Amino acid sequence: MTEAEAKAEAADSLIDDIDDKGQPIKRPGILKDKLPSPYPNKVAAAKANNGAVPPDLTTIVLGRHGNENYIYSLLTSYFDAPAGIKVDDGKAYNPYFPGGVLAMPQQLFDEGIEYKDGTPATVSQQSKDVCSFLRWTSEQYHDDRKRWALKGLVILPLATFIVLYMKKHVWTFIKSSKRAWVTTKGREPPHSSK
Ligand code: HEM
Repeated sequence: MTEAEAKAEAADSLIDDIDDKGQPIKRPGILKDKLPSPYPNKVAAAKANNGAVPPDLTTIVLGRHGNENYIYSLLTSYFDAPAGIKVDDGKAYNPYFPGGVLAMPQQLFDEGIEYKDGTPATVSQQSKDVCSFLRWTSEQYHDDRKRWALKGLVILPLATFIVLYMKKHVWTFIKSSKRAWVTTKGREPPHSSK
């Protein structure tokens, strides 16, 4: 998507907000908004999904062992349950889910969407794109952070060199001068009026 397309799609959603007087309003979405939940609350979400609440996926990639590889495997691995495993109505078998039976049915199917550039819309292609997106939502500032780190790596050695040089410069006077203390005991202080 171009930025304009993404903005147009965000504006299609109505987001809960408040106006200047504090009254609740609905306004068109902007790019920084979270995707609105399709359910009003967790009870309604569980009721619509065989008792399991669909998790918030914003940072799910960081919250599962295997990160996006796990999500990819989960999305692409719906099979008939092997003998001995009971799958209740509305549930599905997926060997990657702990326990094997989960309340989320298969979500992605071949040709489920159409790519504008003609990329074949296989389950694995769609899963890869979803995983790339979820990796980004999990660490939206990843690239900025790396860029700042690179800048830091360049600037810090330079700054260290300048600071050490300045320190040497400033301390030269003290380090190269010799001080001696002599006792004045038993001697008249200089310029004494006596
Ligand atoms: C491509 C879109 C989707 C992705 C990437 C996705 C991904 C996930 C992930 C990673 C989990 C957590 C699995 C775990 O705990 O390890 C999950 C759970 C779940 N998802 Fe989805 N999901 C998608 C779409 C949906 C949709 C559209 C629904 C409902 C209509 C849904 C319903 C659920 C439910 C009910 C669970 C809880 C499963 C359980 O605990 O048994 N998901 N999903």
